[in-house]
Amino acid sequence: MQDDLDRILFHETTILSRLDELAAQVSKDYRDRELTVIAVLTGSLMFMADLLRRIPLPLKLDFLSVASYHGKAQTSGEVIFKQVALPDVKDRHILILDDILDSGHTLAAIREKLETAGPRSIRVCVLLSKKKERARHVDADYVGFEIENEFVVGYGLDFMERYRNLPYIGVLRKELIAQAS
Ligand code: IMP
Ligand code: MG
Repeated sequence: MQDDLDRILFHETTILSRLDELAAQVSKDYRDRELTVIAVLTGSLMFMADLLRRIPLPLKLDFLSVASYHGKAQTSGEVIFKQVALPDVKDRHILILDDILDSGHTLAAIREKLETAGPRSIRVCVLLSKKKERARHVDADYVGFEIENEFVVGYGLDFMERYRNLPYIGVLRKELIAQAS
């Protein structure tokens, strides 16, 4: 799989030491409020597991599953919620966890949807945020790393459902994306 990468952006040790810092920040901010984490499947899986183990607070964990990509490297703008019932967020302090902020469509749609269910507060935490003009504005309260506008895989992030199990994050070779589209 490593042959499919143009280069590695963040090694596992780099990711984990950044998560120490993010977790310390979240733990400080939520020390007096009961936290409900909503992780967006599937891309946030590794991030969620490593981050939450560093947060020594009582918290609830729930999941949302959405699709916006349909297998390609370009966002479609249409966000489909894959489950019928939303997590119970009423009167709770919600922290949404996602792998990456790209066009903003996914997180904007999730935030809007959860807001209709009456939470006390909503914050957004992403591992990666692409430096680019977004189709929809999203305020991310916690960001692991800012990256250039390149397609990345590994540590939960996929291209056509592959590469999620790489322990590091790398830039996918452009030819591979071109071949698939
Ligand atoms: P957005 O709706 O365009 O912000 O895209 C968010 C979703 O698209 C993320 O949760 C990822 O699943 C996927 N995505 C966006 N950029 C990348 C990337 O560079 N690599 C892998 N997945 C990505
Ligand atoms: Mg994805």
